[in-house]
Amino acid sequence: MAVDLDKLYVEKMMEEKARVLEPAILRYLPNEIEGGGFDRKVREAMRYSVQAGGKRLRPILLMECFHAFGGKGTIYEPFCAAIEYLHTYSLIHDDLPAMDDDDLRRGQPSCHAKFGEAAAILAGDGLLNLAFEVMAGTVANVAVARPDTGEPGEYLKKMACITAAANHMGYCSGIRGMVGGQAADVVSEAEGTEVSKELLEFIYIEKTAAMFSGAMGTGMILAGAPPKLLPKVTEAAKYIGVAFQLRDDILDIEGDESELGKPVHSDEKNKKRTYAAVYGVEQAVKDCRYYTGMAIASLRSCGVPCEFLQDLFVYLAERNR
Ligand code: IPE
Ligand code: IPE
Ligand code: MG
Ligand code: MG
Ligand code: MG
Repeated sequence: MAVDLDKLYVEKMMEEKARVLEPAILRYLPNEIEGGGFDRKVREAMRYSVQAGGKRLRPILLMECFHAFGGKGTIYEPFCAAIEYLHTYSLIHDDLPAMDDDDLRRGQPSCHAKFGEAAAILAGDGLLNLAFEVMAGTVANVAVARPDTGEPGEYLKKMACITAAANHMGYCSGIRGMVGGQAADVVSEAEGTEVSKELLEFIYIEKTAAMFSGAMGTGMILAGAPPKLLPKVTEAAKYIGVAFQLRDDILDIEGDESELGKPVHSDEKNKKRTYAAVYGVEQAVKDCRYYTGMAIASLRSCGVPCEFLQDLFVYLAERNR
C-alpha cells in the first residue's frame, strides 16, 4: 500500500462495518438464564469468546460479496452470525492445550484459560451447532413470510439459495476445509515430518482460506448470483486466504503481542514450520503480495463492483493485527 492514509481508511471502514454487523452477531447467542442453569458456564464461555471481539473479517467479506453480487434485503445477517460462530469455535479449539496451547486470544485470556478445558471444548461445540441452527432457521422465516400471492418461482429460488449457502458453509468449515486443514497442521508438527511447499499450501488453503471461501461464496450464493461465478469467487478467496495466513505467520515472528491480542512466537514454541519460518520473512512477504495480486485479479474477473474488497485485500496483506 502506497500511503499510510489508505491503511487508516480501510481500518476505519472495517470498524464501521463490524459495528453495523455486531447486533446480528450477538443476536442468537444463548443467554445465561435459559435452561436450568446447569449449563451456565458453557453459555457464558460461548458469549465470552464471541463478545471478545476480533476483526469480524469473515462476516464483513460475506456482507460485501452479498452486496457486490446484487443481493437485496437482510438475509445475509444470520449467515454473518453463523460464520463468526464457526470461526470463533475454530479459535477456541485451536488454542486448547492439545492444539496450539495458547492462553491469550483477542486480547483476553483464551476460553480454556478462563473457563477450563471441558467448558472450552463444549463452548466450541455449542457455537458450531448454533451456526447451523441459525442458518437452517432462516428457511422457516422465509416460509412464514411467504406472501399468498407471491411468485412461487421467487420463493423456491430463495429457499434453494439458503440451502445451497448452508451446504457451502458446511463444506468449507468441515473435513474438506477448516477441520481438514487443522488436522494436517497438527500432523505436520510431528517430529521428522517433511514440510514441503505442497503440504504448506494444502494446510493454508484448507485451514484458513476455506473459511474465506465460506464467507465470500455464501455472500454470493445468497445474493442469487449465477452459480457459474462460484468457482471465480472461491478462487479469489483461496488466494486471499493463503495471503492472510502467510501474514499471520509473519506476525507470529515479528508482530506485537499487545496489538495482535494473541501470543507471538506461538509457532516457534510448537516447533511449527510455517512458510515464514522455513523460507524466511522476506520470501513470505513477497509471496503474500503475489497471492494478494492473484486474489484481486480473480475478484475483478467476476465483473462486479468490488473497490472496497480490493482495498481490503491489499490492507490484509500489510496488516499488523
Ligand atoms: C485468526 O483469524 C486465525 C487465522 C486464520 C490466522 P483472525 O486474524 O481473523 O482473528 P480475529 O477474528 O480477528 O480474532
Ligand atoms: C489457525 O491458524 C487457523 C484456524 C483454523 C483457527 P493459527 O493457529 O496460526 O491461528 P492463530 O495464530 O492461533 O490465530
Ligand atoms: Mg493453529
Ligand atoms: Mg493458533
Ligand atoms: Mg498463527
